[in-house]
Amino acid sequence: MKFTAGSPKGETVAKFIFEGDFDGIRDDAKAHNFSGKEREVMVAHPAKGPKRLIVAGLGKKEKFTTEKLRRAAAQVGQRARLLDLAEISIVPPAGDRSENSQAVVEGVALALYEYKRYKSKPGRPLKLQTVRVDGDADAVRRGEIYARATCVTRDLVNDPPSVCTPRYLADAAKKVAKKGISIKVFDEKQIKKMGMGGLEGVAIGSTEPCRFVHMTYKAPGARRTVAIVGKGITFDSGGLCLKPADGMLNMKDDMSGAGAVIGIFSALAELKPRVNVHGIFAATENMPGGSAYKTRDILRAMNGKTMEIINTDAEGRLILADALSYASRLKPSEIIDMATLTGACVVALGPDMSAIFTANEKLQKGILAAARAEGEKVWPMPLENEYLDMIKSDVADMKNSGGRWGGAITAALFLREFVEEGIPWAHLDIAGPALVENDRPYRPAGGTGVMVRTLLRYLEEQ
Ligand code: BES
Ligand code: MN
Ligand code: ZN
Repeated sequence: MKFTAGSPKGETVAKFIFEGDFDGIRDDAKAHNFSGKEREVMVAHPAKGPKRLIVAGLGKKEKFTTEKLRRAAAQVGQRARLLDLAEISIVPPAGDRSENSQAVVEGVALALYEYKRYKSKPGRPLKLQTVRVDGDADAVRRGEIYARATCVTRDLVNDPPSVCTPRYLADAAKKVAKKGISIKVFDEKQIKKMGMGGLEGVAIGSTEPCRFVHMTYKAPGARRTVAIVGKGITFDSGGLCLKPADGMLNMKDDMSGAGAVIGIFSALAELKPRVNVHGIFAATENMPGGSAYKTRDILRAMNGKTMEIINTDAEGRLILADALSYASRLKPSEIIDMATLTGACVVALGPDMSAIFTANEKLQKGILAAARAEGEKVWPMPLENEYLDMIKSDVADMKNSGGRWGGAITAALFLREFVEEGIPWAHLDIAGPALVENDRPYRPAGGTGVMVRTLLRYLEEQ
């Protein structure tokens, strides 16, 4: 599927209308019982103009958002698929030409994503080849790049966990690190040598070897450097503190942070933001095994701090301890990590929202603004210092679990211990939205690629 900018031509044109605002299609609207509400879509065959007109509702004009347009565009895309169209022209509504063009492209491209690698009968193939958007060419291109990057992550999350192993993730990173991006992949021996005791400890119970990956994008003349860090647990069984079956069911998604790093890097060479970017992830399985790490074991992270194991299922923070230590050594202007870190975060915010933890107002503002523009939901949570008591250990510097209460907060406080003081840092807990079980207009059930678009926009705004 290809997106281009240009004025409408061909047999099928799609447009959007606000509730009750039917210029020229009143009779068709009546016949189809179409009133222009959100989620409504109809196909008309007007007496003059294009052969076929797809109309999607945007709801009330005074309540318009680009997210509503993104969702309406998704309906258009779905309808184009149902009609087996090869080509369509889409006219975004008047308003912010750039934002509206991008939202239309994202809505269509993301809605038509499918994961069919393991279907022996994949069903009707998508016929849609050309989507012409009557809008801003740069924005159309940006929308296409953002959507493609998101789908790189979706594929990685959707891949079965015995396929998407740490080595597979490292290979996926190598594939996206083509021209303009350099990459270092560290194997289990090098990981041990670097003193990454957290990653080594979690990995030791698994027969799959672990990997640590560092990608770099350099922008000519850039003054700032952002480090993006991801949790890459390719399967979280809980380790010896084994999860119950229902809790383990979707734990192939525990590499969604690392998957997002790879998705983001798949776009940087093309997007060329004016900021340097490090992409870092630690990848391992968390498995029970004869050699697995145990409760009351003590691991030493790369920055020298020791961690007492209370629960082997609190493994994400142990590998992130090393990844954040490593990122800090690069002396970036700021660090942003993404992790499917806690069930507590899903209890707090539900399946649609990510949490952001940061002490840096500017960083928070920037990420929230980018998230809002991309239609991704992010909510601020507190780094409550009093709760540090909950992760104090008698024998080591920290415990890896503070118990149930405030579980998302104590996890974030734990991570903070591994970020060098003075480096602005934000932690995004994406445990809820990384993988979802229900379809939404442009987000089918399964891996979502959450935070890819938000962080791409954030990087472009530096
Ligand atoms: N990967 C899980 C968190 C998770 C839960 C992600 C649900 C997505 C959906 C993480 O490694 C984990 O198991 N966390 C524990 C921590 C606890 C043992 C302190 C949890 O949240 O229960
Ligand atoms: Mn776990
Ligand atoms: Zn986990």
